[in-house]
Amino acid sequence: MKLLKNLLNSLIQITSNSAIACYPHIGKNNKILADKAATDTMRRELNALNIAGEVVIGEGELDEAPMLYIGEKLGNGLGMDIDIAVDPVEGTNFVAKNLPGAMSVLTVSQKGNLLKAPETYMNKLASGSHVPKDCLDIDFTVEKNLKNYSEACNKKLSDITVCILDRPRHKKIIDELKRLKVCIKYISDGDVSGALLVSDKKYNVDIFMGIGGGPEGVIAASALKILNCNFQARLLFESDNDIVRAKQMGIEDLDKKYLIDDIIKGESIFCATGITSGDLMKGIIKKNNKLITETIFTYDKSILQFVKKEVSIT
Ligand code: FBP
Repeated sequence: MKLLKNLLNSLIQITSNSAIACYPHIGKNNKILADKAATDTMRRELNALNIAGEVVIGEGELDEAPMLYIGEKLGNGLGMDIDIAVDPVEGTNFVAKNLPGAMSVLTVSQKGNLLKAPETYMNKLASGSHVPKDCLDIDFTVEKNLKNYSEACNKKLSDITVCILDRPRHKKIIDELKRLKVCIKYISDGDVSGALLVSDKKYNVDIFMGIGGGPEGVIAASALKILNCNFQARLLFESDNDIVRAKQMGIEDLDKKYLIDDIIKGESIFCATGITSGDLMKGIIKKNNKLITETIFTYDKSILQFVKKEVSIT
């Protein structure tokens, strides 16, 4: 039975409205204000839903308000118990600098079905549904993964594209990819989108790899699961405080390799609305007295689905 179905339209409306709340902040060089506008809208609208919701992936702790914090209760408390992962602005720099690829995103599942990940970094590896499940592994070397992919998908190394965040911490991986003569798609931010680029051959990304935010990894995994794609991850802890937080959140094995089914179980809905245009969807377009948004979502089909919304601004 589809238990979350009744929420789908509301959730699409919520990310659309959060994106619109950001619209006045595009290119204004103030990512804090942009994030606040989207967060306030997302919180207000999630609170109006008939759910007993709890933020399991959020933006910080209680004392870091006004962010949607881990453990925050949302909804009128009367409906179904729901876990919520939010990223009101994924790519805050993109909004501040009017660069492509900013979006407002959330995922919901039934209670207990989303990994409660602390706000740490996560090592991630994603590939499309056409790739055999045991072909790539986060514990293999870069070379082994690339050679396995090349053999399994019958593609020359030089025809394979790997997407990775352009960060100094990835120097070793990038040097190895260069040595193997693989094509690299560098992204400056926004690794939810980066990971989702493996979901369809039209995006021309074979593998996504590297270290990015843990919360973003959980959100990407929720969409990739419905799309039958592959995703593996490992949380990385930089400080003692990170470790304490992880233990408080119930993580005992700090070195655990997470498979996609460890991150998201059962039914879920993922929605992401473009703020500025990116590889996955268009950003907000102003036409006469209307703002038009484009949202991608995953729910009941193993493809990314698209929906447009119009909001009058008179
Ligand atoms: P924000 O939108 O919160 O700024 O995050 C953008 C992002 O690029 C994520 O997509 C990614 O997971 C993370 O930051 C990478 O973190 P860092 O910039 O520290 O490498």
